[in-house]
Amino acid sequence: MKAITVEPKKAGSAQLENVSEPDLHYGSVLVEAIAVGVCGTDVEITQGKYGWAPPGATRLVLGHESLGRVIDPGPSNGLKKGDLVVGIVRRPDPVPCPNCAVGEWDMCRNGQYTERGIKQVHGFMSERWRIEPEYAMKIDPTLGILGVLMEPTTVVTKAWEHALAVGRRAFWEPRTVLVTGSGPIGLLAALLGVQQGLEVHVLARTQSGPKPEAVRALGATYHSGRVADLGFAPDIVMECTGVGEVISEAISRIAASGVVCLTGVGHGGPLPTIPMADVASCAVLKNNVVIGSVNANKRHWYKAAEALARADRAWLARLITGRERPEDFAKALGRGAQQIKVVIQFADI
Ligand code: BGC
Repeated sequence: MKAITVEPKKAGSAQLENVSEPDLHYGSVLVEAIAVGVCGTDVEITQGKYGWAPPGATRLVLGHESLGRVIDPGPSNGLKKGDLVVGIVRRPDPVPCPNCAVGEWDMCRNGQYTERGIKQVHGFMSERWRIEPEYAMKIDPTLGILGVLMEPTTVVTKAWEHALAVGRRAFWEPRTVLVTGSGPIGLLAALLGVQQGLEVHVLARTQSGPKPEAVRALGATYHSGRVADLGFAPDIVMECTGVGEVISEAISRIAASGVVCLTGVGHGGPLPTIPMADVASCAVLKNNVVIGSVNANKRHWYKAAEALARADRAWLARLITGRERPEDFAKALGRGAQQIKVVIQFADI
């Protein structure tokens, strides 16, 4: 079967190649791939900056934002042939650490977790893949291709859950949220903010095109300037850019007792214009909390499935701005600024 593979830590090594059928040790459920979303992590892996092949292998099957159709459910009770499923990405570490032991693999303490398509286990960019029944999440069939948005939705579901839990350490009635960044993570974070009845603002670089349009279609407000020029102090910031200057401005400008949740993974950039001690003083004097959030556990997958099922299908459809065939995977990896989510489509839905 065909798969998109990469030699981790070797830039430009991605290719579409023939690989053997998925090994039974990956799980008793056999799935036909329909589509796989491409995100910044996949781009980093193909640029040689991130990613690990399975032990004993040199290449990794890429892809962690899956959508597939069950070909053979195996002995699993809850699944049947034809069900649309999405595969959970992370697996607990083998020790396991206390968090992995209680199913919170997203909070793994020792870093020995594995991740499909990212860290030591093959991903979903292959014509067929296997999965353990307990890691296959059934999605609302009326979502169709939109089910490919499930994995990024789990990431923001966790971020929201943690930001709200932290905020509630004291009396807190958040009203406004600022989402920085208007890629898929930013837009899905905005969607969840609207679903919770908050006043949602999204700030990003683009001035026109599908991203601001998607924000407005959600009933949220789009800003294209700097955080410092917003003119109000948000109660929550969902930071989805990973850009140093945006982060330090967000911490400096958030309302008293507000929470800044960092979801973006950035690197380098210019030296901060606001010195670190000044940023920290702002946080101290306003009781702010800055949290990082990565990945998602099964509770978040469950809640994300509910959030997607509730969402307006036409709005979700705006997020998928490109579909490429596996042969053209390079086009999907070279996402343009106007693109939101590009998916590689393996089969018709
Ligand atoms: C994925 C997460 C993963 C993280 C770090 C993200 O792109 O969505 O599931 O935990 O990368 O590897």
